[in-house]
Amino acid sequence: MNEPLPVGAELPAHGGVGVALRHESAYLHVAGEAVYIDDILEARGTLHAAFGLSQRAHARIRTLNLAPVWAAPGVVAVLTAADIPGENNVGPILHDDPILADGEVQYLGQPIFVVVADTVDHARRAARLAQVDYEDLPAILTIEEALAHGSFVIPTVRLERGDAKSAIAGAPHRLKGSLRIGGQEQFYLEGQIAYAIPREDGDMLVYNSTQHPGEGQMQVAHALGIDAHRVTIECRRMGGGFGGKETQGGLPACAAAIASRHIGRPVKLRYDRDDDILITGKRHNYLVEYEVGYDAAGRILGVEFMFASQCGFSADLSGPVNDRTVMHADNAYFLPHVLIVSHRCKTHTQSNTAFRGFGGPQGMVAIEHVVDEIARHLDLDPVAVRRANFYASGRDLTPYDMQVEDFVADRLFDELEKSSDYAARRAAIRKWNATSPVVKRGIAMTPVKFGISFTATFYNQASALLHVYYADGSVLLNHGGTEMGQGLFTKVAQVVAHELGIDVDRVRVSASDTARIPNASATAASSGSDLNGKAAQAAAREIKARLAAFAAERFGVAPDSIRFAANSVAIGDVKRMPFAELVKLAYYARVQLWASGFYKTPKIHYDPKTLRGRPFYYFAYGASVSEVAIDTLTGELKLLRADLLHDVGRSLNPAIDLGQVEGGFVQGAGWLTSEELWWNAQGKLMTHAPSTYKIPVASDVPADFRVRLWSRGENVEDSIHRSKAVGEPPLMLAISVLHAIKDAVAALGDYRLSPRLDAPATPEEVLRSVDELRARLTHRSSAG
Ligand code: MTE
Ligand code: MOS
Repeated sequence: MNEPLPVGAELPAHGGVGVALRHESAYLHVAGEAVYIDDILEARGTLHAAFGLSQRAHARIRTLNLAPVWAAPGVVAVLTAADIPGENNVGPILHDDPILADGEVQYLGQPIFVVVADTVDHARRAARLAQVDYEDLPAILTIEEALAHGSFVIPTVRLERGDAKSAIAGAPHRLKGSLRIGGQEQFYLEGQIAYAIPREDGDMLVYNSTQHPGEGQMQVAHALGIDAHRVTIECRRMGGGFGGKETQGGLPACAAAIASRHIGRPVKLRYDRDDDILITGKRHNYLVEYEVGYDAAGRILGVEFMFASQCGFSADLSGPVNDRTVMHADNAYFLPHVLIVSHRCKTHTQSNTAFRGFGGPQGMVAIEHVVDEIARHLDLDPVAVRRANFYASGRDLTPYDMQVEDFVADRLFDELEKSSDYAARRAAIRKWNATSPVVKRGIAMTPVKFGISFTATFYNQASALLHVYYADGSVLLNHGGTEMGQGLFTKVAQVVAHELGIDVDRVRVSASDTARIPNASATAASSGSDLNGKAAQAAAREIKARLAAFAAERFGVAPDSIRFAANSVAIGDVKRMPFAELVKLAYYARVQLWASGFYKTPKIHYDPKTLRGRPFYYFAYGASVSEVAIDTLTGELKLLRADLLHDVGRSLNPAIDLGQVEGGFVQGAGWLTSEELWWNAQGKLMTHAPSTYKIPVASDVPADFRVRLWSRGENVEDSIHRSKAVGEPPLMLAISVLHAIKDAVAALGDYRLSPRLDAPATPEEVLRSVDELRARLTHRSSAG
């Protein structure tokens, strides 16, 4: 073993940074062998829980008769708010989000009690048997009602730069209007779930499908009234999160833990899909009003926005979500004079929460709408108006005072315009539409600029713990991030393998676990690999430095002459030995073979009161061209072709990044075209199952789908290997789909009128838009 290996004779280590590796669990996923929470082998005595839900949007509970629930087959316990030993709250920021409603219900679907039974079926059946006597209270169900009543979960925020009113008043052209943007259900495939196992002396272990184990740990500790060090949350993977498990995983975790503590047995709580959609928050829906002043080239001189979002009954993450809307109301455009007012409306509905993009998409839809309206009113190609408004040197300060130093949307636009053949296709589509009375086609190109970092600066930190086992040199890595399908574990393993010069399958990433990594931030804001990649790299560098120092001393060479590559270690010109061999020698020499790594994002600062500072380390960019066809008699629509060009910097893993771009785009297209949340007059969300809530399926992916990562992409900041975050930004590429539909409707009026089209542009909405445009056309011609 100690024979010197000939230098350069061996194969390089497999699976370092930049390699298009498959997802670390790909085989397990397709074989059905990946273990999700409900797949964990159940401990002896496991019981199953279900929530009893409010049937009213807003009411006082006069009496709650749980006798029929207790009497149901298999029932072991029924718990209410009074049975919570500690704090009755899962609100992440404000403490306004009860685990179980206490005396008053604030939305239809709110959990009132939890029933524990011997089987899932028994628990769910029993949960429906409660007799609740409600005294109805006035319910606020819409944004308009909330605005009229001044009903807000947190105070209104204003961001002002320059003098928007005067700029608009003095502009050669002005426009004013409003827009509605729908919400979106996360529809993760694995529903919300927690499995609590009591341990000795009052400790509690909770397996939980969550993006934020550290927060769940605090919430469970508070709910049980015990110290945080007694609670462990573990999550190996989620079957999707999409923001829907950033805070919402805390409720089942607390409820299962409370029940488990109460009974002294393991308790599992998995929401039924309908319950999941009724209980949990979604992407915020918005009402937007705007007024804009612009010049003959379509350049914005001043703009005013009023954003009002439906937050639901509690604050949850609505503050930061709405802040991100405000900070993305510029998208890729310089707004010289701007005034943004952002209302966070309190309604008696589900408490809306994070969803991929975290409020950013709604701000971007708003400004893209304004830019498109300007183009249509000036009869210019919207692409030209977009270009005219891009950030540029001297026009590079965002409304929140951050200098845009890395702008590349213009270069992406130029490249994509050529590669997608946008101009020629636009001309051809216009010609084609002239001879097609019923089916109309449309095309649009839109840019994406998305700020990367948590706006709450303190969240931008991460830790990693790296173990090297002396037996065989294999590496176990733990970090604070969570895996939800986005490929974080794969990327972080690649970073470590790269650093140590070993094969990626020598690195195993363990489940996220609050006992191993304390105080981890949520895996969110797309920053998972930025933060945890850097923390893991720091840990790997630490191990490497220790091994190098040891080898230098042992073999009498300079530490900097030691190189780690190809699963081996070159020790100056003296020697070369397998990595595992050096590890073994180091162990016997009593070298510490585990290391921790820590990272905090540099340069960022931000004042959440004034909404000013440098909230983002850098921006991710992208551009897309979508082409659609609509049937003007039925409103049906089809996405025919999409060309996406997205900047992921120097990709850590092009296969995973490409998957994120494709998936993000399709999810965004679903949000803007087919996914519609609909509440009835009593405040019941009627679209609480896939039968009525339509997410995209494989056949909704455009037949002609041309997706590319930008080959020249490179992060100007010192991110992990100069890569860029990719989780959320591609969702906003789908805004071009909405605009392509609008372009198709506009064809009906020979592009002389701008159609009104809200999101989601479902067939119903498209038909409404078509009819409205037709009515305006008839009115025009009859008016002569
Ligand atoms: N991709 C998959 N497959 N599943 C998910 O749940 N969540 C998205 C995105 N991509 C998600 C996903 C969201 S909302 C975020 S914030 C990021 O992944 C989080 O992971 P990252 O920070 O590691 O990119
Ligand atoms: Mo993603 S919405 O930041 O979890």
